Amino acid sequence: MDIDSYIAGLPKAELHMHIEGSLEPEMMFSLARRNGVQIPFANVEALRAAYDFSRLQDFLDIYYQGAAALRTEEDFHDLALAYFDRAAADGVVHSEIFFDPQTHTARGLPFKVAADGLLAGMAAAEAKHGLTSKLILCFLRHLPEADAFATLEAAEPWLDRIVGVGLDSSELGHPPEDFTRVFAAAGALGLKRVAHAGEEGPPDYVYQALDRLDIDRLDHGNRSLEDDALVARLAKQHMTLTVCPLSNLKLCVVRDLAEHPIARMLRLGLRATVNSDDPAYFGGYINDNFRAVAPLLGRDELTTLARNSLLGSFLPAQDIARHIAAIDAYVAGTDAS
Ligand code: HPA
Ligand code: ZN
Repeated sequence: MDIDSYIAGLPKAELHMHIEGSLEPEMMFSLARRNGVQIPFANVEALRAAYDFSRLQDFLDIYYQGAAALRTEEDFHDLALAYFDRAAADGVVHSEIFFDPQTHTARGLPFKVAADGLLAGMAAAEAKHGLTSKLILCFLRHLPEADAFATLEAAEPWLDRIVGVGLDSSELGHPPEDFTRVFAAAGALGLKRVAHAGEEGPPDYVYQALDRLDIDRLDHGNRSLEDDALVARLAKQHMTLTVCPLSNLKLCVVRDLAEHPIARMLRLGLRATVNSDDPAYFGGYINDNFRAVAPLLGRDELTTLARNSLLGSFLPAQDIARHIAAIDAYVAGTDAS
């Protein structure tokens, strides 16, 4: 079996995917038309041509503009289901999706619109594909911690359907320690905690995410590799890193996929996973990301990435065991063929 077919059939979880970042240009224009919203681009081609980024902020500026096309619960449902259709086709059995409520409440949408729309899309995907999912509420780190607290308060009626909180948006100049209190409050409410750190920010931001935010998972984490003691600590505590190869390329976190650190991460004993981050903007869904790094890895390492994605998920242990058994069965079946 060739490697692309092997990747395609491999059961996997996705742990780092911003649902607003799965808004394809075609859907952005059709939602904008449906809602009477203006987009500052003439057409799909002009929009795609603008997806030429040299740093995280270049992308974020366009990503927040694009999210303005989303206005109703139905929009969020349709957005989520379109992503889950793509994910299911890529062999994703479970996905833990991020959403940015502040991007929507700042435009006057009630918290309910995004939350209930996404939850409806998640239920539809489970019924349609058997693909399970969880929802992670991200705080925007370029806004003050007080705004994050207000968001956590607005989320209160939904907290039984939200697995955890995350931290995203502009990393440089917005260190994790600025969100220490709101992460502690989220933890006290029984929520898991994840944070983007070490994408553009230094290793110190990763230490802060560990020590101040008490994270359960590290999003990106690439720059951890600059600090051997940090790598040893992450490996020792089996910290899951949600790595996003095509995102790293598009945002110039790496110069070239041939230099992508995923192989080094695995060989250093880090629990790395592969994810799509913002697939509509970065040129591919999860299997595109697996294929992008496949030349750097052996087949066993590709399988390890898939196993890591289940081990790093927030699923109950028995579900993780069931999915790992499916991976083992897949490996045994492809060895035989
Ligand atoms: N980094 C930070 N914030 C984000 C990203 C990312 O890769 N994607 C969407 N929001
Ligand atoms: Zn991200």
